[in-house]
Amino acid sequence: MACVIIVGTQWGDEGKGKIVDLLTERADAVVRYQGGNNAGHTVMFGNKTFVTHLVPSGILRKTTSILGNGVVIDLAELIKEIDVLEQMDIAVENYLRISDRAQLVMPWHKTFDRLGEEQKGTKKIGTTGRGIGPAYEDKIGRSGIRVGDLLDPEHFRTLLEEIVDKKNQQLEHYYKSDEPPFSTELIFSEFANHLKKLEPYICDSVMLLNQLVEQGKNILFEGAQGTFLDVDHGTYPFVTSSNTLAGGACAGAGIGPTRITDVLGIVKAYTTRVGSGPFPTELFDKDGELLQSEGNEFGATTGRPRRCGWFDALLVRQAVRLNGVTGMAVMKLDVLDNFETLKIAVGYRLANGELRENLPRSLESVTPVYEEMPGWNRKTAGITDYEQLPPEMLAYLDRLSELVGAPVSIISTGPKREESIVLNPDQLWR
Ligand code: GDP
Ligand code: IMO
Ligand code: MG
Repeated sequence: MACVIIVGTQWGDEGKGKIVDLLTERADAVVRYQGGNNAGHTVMFGNKTFVTHLVPSGILRKTTSILGNGVVIDLAELIKEIDVLEQMDIAVENYLRISDRAQLVMPWHKTFDRLGEEQKGTKKIGTTGRGIGPAYEDKIGRSGIRVGDLLDPEHFRTLLEEIVDKKNQQLEHYYKSDEPPFSTELIFSEFANHLKKLEPYICDSVMLLNQLVEQGKNILFEGAQGTFLDVDHGTYPFVTSSNTLAGGACAGAGIGPTRITDVLGIVKAYTTRVGSGPFPTELFDKDGELLQSEGNEFGATTGRPRRCGWFDALLVRQAVRLNGVTGMAVMKLDVLDNFETLKIAVGYRLANGELRENLPRSLESVTPVYEEMPGWNRKTAGITDYEQLPPEMLAYLDRLSELVGAPVSIISTGPKREESIVLNPDQLWR
């Protein structure tokens, strides 16, 4: 029996989807516990590429795939994803289960996400525009609508009547928008249609999950976003609106912390970030351009170019602490194939000249202090035999591991499922 949390250790897009897919080979269920379709998790096998946004990536291996209580769900987008999966001959109805207590992303959440960003102007967060922040605001404000509310149409209609009125007031008076008001009737019929399609998937996911745990099954928890987008521990306010940390899996999925057996931190061999916010090791030179082009660093959800920079050991060391990381999957090492020299941030110089080895409260005006290592400067893309990895890469991995305080469990040398070296295949599934 194993319950393994897969968590991003940087600002998202570390390669979680690839590793979830790889490990699902031996998993009995995969669970999303937070976030929504702001996530974009890429899975590649054979000559196929697939990006999941809401559905857990485990579905591609025809495994039980659960959307837990902590997820915020845009039903229309979920249905689009299901349609694509069905076209790939995956009988989604047999595998996907949706918590009756998960929150719904409603039309006003998406509108207010967009209008809120417009209002912020140059201070905008650079959200994915999927309504995630406003949906979590309503959840925490105890005025959200949950999946289970749809199951009783009269109750749902009453809820809508109350809420739509308030949202229209907000649209007109707070956002001063001249967009057409939200209509209870239209939304009611739209959601009645969604329910027709999705009713068979809705369940008490906490019971289902805990039964699987009691039966000794192997469960993967698929984190979305990354440690420094966490609302409590990230680079606030430039964060997402959920707890992205491993700890969020217990609350969001409904499983006790004592059941978790491992936390696998997904670590990009350099650093990227999408959207606004501080990024100490960000590069604006040829090295940054090389990371961007070699790493094909474009957002899987919005297509925006990702900002790129050197590996930041202070960030990942903090992520190891915050998540209790027991092993790391180090991703995209092949992207570093053409560098003579690699840099690693091992300290920050604050504006007052003080040197820090741990994260200060704000990352806004710190200057990274770098350590340099020789690059391997030869092609490693696609290598699957540990013995063939260049000594410079092994030295780089050793140094990362030493600096952040966690062992390397998986080495990734390409985007495809097969382009991976799992160092201790039996360690996770004990
Ligand atoms: P996620 O959000 O953490 O699942 O990551 P994304 O899918 O948004 O972004 C990771 C990108 O890197 C995807 O395009 C993957 O196909 C790709 N990728 C993952 N691992 C590797 C790797 O080892 N090498 C290369 N070159 N690409 C990789
Ligand atoms: P995955 O799971 C990278 C970023 C957005 C923005 C901030 C808030 O693919 O790693 P939101 O729409 O959540 O309110 O946006 O968070 N962001 C991500 N960045 N990967 C993601 O997911 C992200 N999900 C949100 O760019 O800066
Ligand atoms: Mg992504």
